[in-house]
Amino acid sequence: MSLHLEARVSDPTAGGLENLLSEDRRFPPSAEFAAQANASADLYSWANADRPAFWGEQARELLTWSTPFEQTLDWSDAPVARWFADGRLNAAYNAVDRHVEAGRGDKVALHFEGEGGDTRTLTYADLQREVSRAANALTSLGVTTGDRVAVYLPMIPEAVVTMLACARIGAPHSVVFGGFSAEALHSRILDAEAKLVVTADGGFRRGAASALKPAVDEALAKGAPSVEHVLVVKRTGQPVEWTEGRDVWWSDVVDTASDEHTPVDVEAEHPLFILYTSGTTGKPKGIFHTTGGYLAQAAYTHLNVFDLKAETDVYWCTADVGWITGHTYVVYGPLVNGATQVIYEGTPDTPHRGRWWEIVQKYGVTILYTAPTAIRTCMKWGEEIPAQFDLSSLRVLGSVGEPINPEAWMWYRRVVGGDRAPIVDTWWQTETGAIMISPLPGVTETKPGSAQVPLPGIAADVVDDEAHSVPDGSGGYLVLTEPWPAMLRGIWGDRQRYVDTYWSRFRGLYFAGDGAKKDEDGDIWLLGRVDDVMNVSGHRLSTTEIESALVSHPWVAEAAVVGAADETTGQAVVAFVILRGDSEAGDLPAQDVQTTLRNHVAKEIGPIAKPRQVLVVAELPKTRSGKIMRRLLRDVAENRQVGDATTLADSSVMDLIAQGLSTPAAASQD
Ligand code: PRX
Repeated sequence: MSLHLEARVSDPTAGGLENLLSEDRRFPPSAEFAAQANASADLYSWANADRPAFWGEQARELLTWSTPFEQTLDWSDAPVARWFADGRLNAAYNAVDRHVEAGRGDKVALHFEGEGGDTRTLTYADLQREVSRAANALTSLGVTTGDRVAVYLPMIPEAVVTMLACARIGAPHSVVFGGFSAEALHSRILDAEAKLVVTADGGFRRGAASALKPAVDEALAKGAPSVEHVLVVKRTGQPVEWTEGRDVWWSDVVDTASDEHTPVDVEAEHPLFILYTSGTTGKPKGIFHTTGGYLAQAAYTHLNVFDLKAETDVYWCTADVGWITGHTYVVYGPLVNGATQVIYEGTPDTPHRGRWWEIVQKYGVTILYTAPTAIRTCMKWGEEIPAQFDLSSLRVLGSVGEPINPEAWMWYRRVVGGDRAPIVDTWWQTETGAIMISPLPGVTETKPGSAQVPLPGIAADVVDDEAHSVPDGSGGYLVLTEPWPAMLRGIWGDRQRYVDTYWSRFRGLYFAGDGAKKDEDGDIWLLGRVDDVMNVSGHRLSTTEIESALVSHPWVAEAAVVGAADETTGQAVVAFVILRGDSEAGDLPAQDVQTTLRNHVAKEIGPIAKPRQVLVVAELPKTRSGKIMRRLLRDVAENRQVGDATTLADSSVMDLIAQGLSTPAAASQD
């Protein structure tokens, strides 16, 4: 069974849930699990009675405030919320120091597993010293409260330490995933006007050292007047170019700094971080989150959705800190809750395909949080691989990033969870900051493929084109109907774009950009994006951004990009291009043209955006008003019968495309 998201995404009200709903098994919580669960059903009624008061209670209970707040929600400047606005706190103090002060300094915070097998263990006391040193070093490099710091690092402890050091001095971090190109890094540094870039010589990826510093050098060479220094961690030992006066080694300034540092108290609404994500236009959006509300919801969701028992659990979220999942469920949620967790630098198949399961066995991981793509990849590799390892420690399994098809859900439950561990399919976004829709383990009877219910304290609905709530059994658009503590406070430097993007489609409702359906019980099933955003391996990519990258190549006259259903990655990028008549590309073999253009996209945006296929065509299907009909291109990309083409300006275009594609060299794949 594979997901055919696109057909449903292009028209979420058209049905097509058969695939998902064909799995009708239900999994009630076991009595043993329910008896010990953190969450209970009465959380829903408690939260419903008074949402802001409920969140106020969570924020008081789960966080330590230097100045307690009196206010809960201030929605007077809607759609920009202020939560707990008269309170003050420090995020790093909450994530680290208070655990040490409470006598838990010897508890392991991070078990780091390098790809090559090197390991490091950091207790909360170690983390406090490291973060304090880094905070002192940042200060010595001229970074003060309010300055932005760009972070471009592999998944190593220094990434966590840097983020917390920024939080400690109230300098918002802007983490850029290490897989993004110099070009992408440059635009993010410029937009945030970062004062400092923290990077490494490189990281280990698929058994080899992969350089990072050259991308920073290239980005800064394009001009970035705000950047004063580049702080470089030595990870791989590969040679690096050095700009005297600008570049400094981590070992020179952090390792030698004092390990005493007083965290800077900030207002609850002080920006904690900016994280760029793809939208429907070419320019990535700097989503920004503030401190108090974000931390409260991060801690609350981490505690209840994963049933965290800080004393005994070993938690592992496989996300990179370059994504929101890494921010909320590697850094802030688990550390604020005092958890012990695993972080792993590399890929699941290096040096062998059992690597993840070996790590679960080695550390006795009890809670695992990962993406459907990873699960489907492991399914493909065969269940005999996980069967070689002892996975009996696992007691809660999480899924995030894209809809999980029931087949993958069932495999996850049976092969990884031993038919015992509850699965939580968690829906949320960079913008929501924390989990919004998910079963609660020990409470919810789970349904394979559905994220099911808004968490206590969260109000969501599915609406039709006119913003009317659809009845159970119908589909429409997912909206959030009440403000929530971890909601984005805007798009960095562009309030209007924030209002236009999220609050204009349906007045007074937050439009998530996802199609969804309510089943007969009112449970929510996510159907994928309804806008020009693709989801490849759980990563958000914009069709427009990739099209812009393609047309920036001198050979390309026009480009249209679609997300085509893919068995493993959920969606895959398929590009259709028209070449310029005068370009030399016409004389080259089709294969070379495709390889060049695929590599060009990787260079412009990053390898994650590389199209699976680049198809050279003579025409693109357009309506009379000139709009590209991506729906028809998706049909082609998914090898389907092409749908209704009657609105095309020139109806012979699809025949032309189909003819062109029947030549064997038209498709290429790595
Ligand atoms: O389409 C939804 C999908 O991922 C989008 C958000 O992407 P991003 O901001 O990168 O954050 C990903 C990690 C939180 C959503 O609009 N998505 C995320 N989780 C799920 C999901 N789709 C279905 N089911 C999920 N559990």
